[in-house]
Amino acid sequence: MLKSHAKLEKNSIWLLIFIVIVISIGGLIEIVPLFRIETTIEKVSGVRPFTPLELAGQNVYIREGCSNCHSQQIRPLRDEVERYGHYSLAAESMYDHPFLWGSKRTGPDLARVGGKYSDEWQVAHLLRPQNVVPESIMPAYGFLMNREADVRKIGAHLKTLRIVGVPYSDDMIENAYNDATAQAHPDADAAGLTKRYGKKVVQRDFDGQPLFVSEMDALVAYLQTLGTLADIKNYDLELQTKADTGAKK
Ligand code: HEC
Repeated sequence: MLKSHAKLEKNSIWLLIFIVIVISIGGLIEIVPLFRIETTIEKVSGVRPFTPLELAGQNVYIREGCSNCHSQQIRPLRDEVERYGHYSLAAESMYDHPFLWGSKRTGPDLARVGGKYSDEWQVAHLLRPQNVVPESIMPAYGFLMNREADVRKIGAHLKTLRIVGVPYSDDMIENAYNDATAQAHPDADAAGLTKRYGKKVVQRDFDGQPLFVSEMDALVAYLQTLGTLADIKNYDLELQTKADTGAKK
């Protein structure tokens, strides 16, 4: 065995070929399971696709480059968990296309910013961050108040996301525009919206302009859901029971 290996070491072409073979085996073992992504992401209850309004908000988030300064992934390290909350689960970003984990934290991580502040705070902060955090270097996004959220054709976006695996139903796609406007109007009939997206969907006027669905509405609706969907308590409990039963065996 060693002798034949010596042959390989003396012939650079054969050595190269074998190196490629060995590396490809390792590579395949790492990569192939990911082709069946549904088997690699653990199911977590509560995680649902974004509502049309939240999706419009995510589009604003992407367009404005928020992820150049903000990550959306809490790593399982003690300091991060203490600062931001429970570490992120894969399932929590499974419907993000593109994913927004980010790699730069000029500002804090936003994976669990949902519910941390009131809508009023979020709007005030986006209007002029220095009004609420005097030392902030975050730019102002006041113009979002005056721009209509791009929800008229949001159904097409839902449809596209369905192609890449987000489970939007025909019902959701057909009613996307109505659901988007209903979510931003506190007095609108939300029966359809909650039927399609669950009772926990928050329906209110996010930006203080009740008759106008602005990009601010969409962005704040999106921010307020971040990290709130997954049923973390249940997840931890299950994890604990699994560990306990494992230990008993
Ligand atoms: C130039 C970098 C930069 C960009 C771009 C940026 N931010 Fe920030 N952001 C910051 C910094 C720095 C802070 C911390 C100070 C503060 O709260 O203003 C922050 C704080 C925040 C907070 C409060 C987080 C917390 O837990 O206290 C939110 C929410 C937020 N940003 C949202 C956004 C959104 C949404 C966008 C895109 C529309 C955005 N940011 C764009 C730098 C940025």
